[in-house]
Amino acid sequence: MYLGLDLGTSGVKALLIDADQEIVGSAHGGLDVSRPRSGWSEQDPAEWERATEEAVAGLNAAFPQALAAVKGIGLSGQMHGATLLDAGDKVLRPCILWNDTRSFAEAAELDADPRFRSITGNIVFPGFTAPKLVWVRNNEPALFKQVRKVLLPKDYLRLWLSGEHISEMSDSSGTAWLDVGNRRWSPELLAATDLGEENMPSLVEGTHAAGRLKPELAARWGMSGPVTIAGGAGDNAASACGMGTIGEGHAFVSIGTSGVLFAANASYLPNAASAVHAFCHALPETWHQMGVILSAADSLNWLSEITGRSPRELTDELGEALKAPSGVTFLPYLSGERTPYNDAAIRGSFAGLSHQTDRAAMTRAVLEGVAFAFKDNLEALKEAGTTLHRVTAIGGGSRSLYWLKVIATALNLPVDVPAEGDFGAAFGAARLGLIAAENADPVAVCTQPATSRSVEPDKALRDAYEDAYRRYRTLYPAVKKATV
Ligand code: XUL
Repeated sequence: MYLGLDLGTSGVKALLIDADQEIVGSAHGGLDVSRPRSGWSEQDPAEWERATEEAVAGLNAAFPQALAAVKGIGLSGQMHGATLLDAGDKVLRPCILWNDTRSFAEAAELDADPRFRSITGNIVFPGFTAPKLVWVRNNEPALFKQVRKVLLPKDYLRLWLSGEHISEMSDSSGTAWLDVGNRRWSPELLAATDLGEENMPSLVEGTHAAGRLKPELAARWGMSGPVTIAGGAGDNAASACGMGTIGEGHAFVSIGTSGVLFAANASYLPNAASAVHAFCHALPETWHQMGVILSAADSLNWLSEITGRSPRELTDELGEALKAPSGVTFLPYLSGERTPYNDAAIRGSFAGLSHQTDRAAMTRAVLEGVAFAFKDNLEALKEAGTTLHRVTAIGGGSRSLYWLKVIATALNLPVDVPAEGDFGAAFGAARLGLIAAENADPVAVCTQPATSRSVEPDKALRDAYEDAYRRYRTLYPAVKKATV
């Protein structure tokens, strides 16, 4: 048996698989985000321990024998968070999370130093870890002086599970301190933020062993033998392991709270100028690119709050037949945008409203706006050297057939929907646990799920969607001018 632990923003998911990768069961432990000031987003690492205990206890109650037989654990987690520890590994302050925007000025400052883009291959986005440490240095100097180790959220969980300071390549790519092409920390970039390699965990590949479960935890959870902990992965690379998105040309579009267009690459293909993320994959000698949009399904959630209708009710009232674009243009920048603009200050917008614009037209505009944001990501990946021929859809938004049709037609790509199953980050993490514990071949383990249906672009509506996309593109500069 192998256990995947995914430390998400809203909870920890624990998922058990057997040696044939059949899912035995899963359990959840809830987490809240604290927002003490506008733009701030924090969590207490002690809460991650509690939520993990809760999730594992859930598995223990339902599947005690399977849990007792666990030989490998894989970790996955929300990326970019800054967990700060003192010399005794005591947590110094709440973790500053990936969606915290307080350090936008520090990010811009680091990004202006050309070494960051050239060594990491990425823009220093405000959500990344390095600018958070600069913010702490500038605003909490006494606390900064006490910092001995900086850990990403799932690596803090590893410290608690195993007592080791270890990270892996995929998650570390989102810190702005990793030399992504050479898969090692950059002493130069660390020094630029008054830190050194001694402040960082050691690095392994995500598929390799990285710690053993402490005997006291193993005993509490009823596990009998030694339990290997795999390096694991940041949540997007872990999902890619779950979906088998590991070979050149494989790609997925994730329609979750945030949206991700993820492509696996056999080589390192950075293009920071297009705001594409170029990160190490969880598998050795493999990289990936992704475009990130900050409000995907969250844009529909926002409309749902305003209209008092659930997201499901909103999409259901559109029916299944794809319609021409609504004529209303929606920019989904409710909390700023990463790809392609790297603009933390921009906000969302509706344009083209009329007396005829009803709720359904606004829902269509939101679905179309998010699809056009994905199209922007597709174009950014193209500029970074990757041309996609089809994508697999995952995430809550992929349950709407209408939305999938909009996305297929906007991207002009077939969109595959996996057969029923759970191929998310926790499943990918469990696969990494299996690979590390058994020294298994990652390519043989990380296979792709069967496809239940493929949604083709609607040829008759392609031109209309292309025109609407052009209108969408003209709106950002206008809104920027009007709101800054
Ligand atoms: C990726 C990113 C998000 C978080 C969400 O760059 O910021 O996908 O990892 O958990």
